[in-house]
Amino acid sequence: MRKTPHAMILGTGRGLPDRVLTNADLEKMVDTTDRWIMERTGIRERRIVAPGTALSDLAAQAARIALDDAGVAADEIDLILLGTVTGDMKFPATACIIQDKIGAKNAVAFDLSAACSGFLYSLQVASSLMQAAGYQKALVIGGEILSSMVNWRDRDTCVLFGDGAGAVVLGPSDGKKGILHTCLGSDGAFANLLYNPGCGSVNPPTRENIDQQLHTIHMAGREVFRHAVTAMTNAMQRVLHESAIDPAELNLLIPHQANLRIIEALAKRFDIPAEKVYVNVDRFGNTSSASIPIALDEARRAGRIQPGDLVGMVTFGAGLTWASAAIRF
Ligand code: ACO
Repeated sequence: MRKTPHAMILGTGRGLPDRVLTNADLEKMVDTTDRWIMERTGIRERRIVAPGTALSDLAAQAARIALDDAGVAADEIDLILLGTVTGDMKFPATACIIQDKIGAKNAVAFDLSAACSGFLYSLQVASSLMQAAGYQKALVIGGEILSSMVNWRDRDTCVLFGDGAGAVVLGPSDGKKGILHTCLGSDGAFANLLYNPGCGSVNPPTRENIDQQLHTIHMAGREVFRHAVTAMTNAMQRVLHESAIDPAELNLLIPHQANLRIIEALAKRFDIPAEKVYVNVDRFGNTSSASIPIALDEARRAGRIQPGDLVGMVTFGAGLTWASAAIRF
């Protein structure tokens, strides 16, 4: 059934570190090659923060740009939701630190943990809260400093990830534009395919646990790849079906940027031509919850999204979690 939106995107922004880490740089750090990384992932380079940069810095930058784009003042924001697994600290919520940095003193602020699905999860939670609790203007951010939990000696994972943040400002829909539908899913049975076992309450940060690299990302890459293609395909299918949208109606697809091969498999499955699929994994690698809002901001500013366009989004991450969205601009 065609859906009526109740929240729409008023503005977007992104915050990325200036420092670029190329495949050639990684060749000097681990036993890898530019050719292997390009062929297996499509990643050419990624951004990595300078020491001392906090996630709240990148996220606040993205938020300020999104507010400016939307023409909304920080004190008009009544809800801030940050999807992240690499917040500034375990607590308080990094969303509260961002609130203070941007001066959104009237907002309720909290973090949401859904790994690479963090932005789309947050988008659904924010738009639902706007409808259910009457919030008028929300800031939804996805941001990560994954370089802080990468094992830089593990070639299986260290070539994949990058740092960054992206933000959107949501306001009430005009009845036509907005978030038409979102679908979320989770399966904790596969939690051990992609996880960070250390620094939580199970394995506190003892010297021994840190020596065993428990504080870094652990991933069964091949299995994650297989689940990613299936889960993203199903999530896409579901959002299209439940909102009565034919794939050919999509003006742009913004998939999670983890691996070019996953993106191409998905586009092929729905017969979506390459020019309608947004790709920046070559420049930023996998920025987890930041990947979709960064791509969205780039796509809008490059004129790839015009008024009236229908945009699909789909993602997959640790949990396992997955999510999809259909948005009219
Ligand atoms: N450089 C060179 N060789 C490497 C590297 C590297 N950086 N990493 C692994 N290899 C080797 C392996 O050791 C293996 O060698 P072997 O055949 O002698 O055992 C060989 O390359 C092939 O390894 P595979 O793991 O089978 O390679 P695959 O084609 O599956 O690609 C990759 C690996 C890129 C990790 C892929 O599985 C993938 O993208 N998986 C999904 C990852 C992902 O998306 N994770 C995040 C999703 S959720 C989120 O975003 C948090």
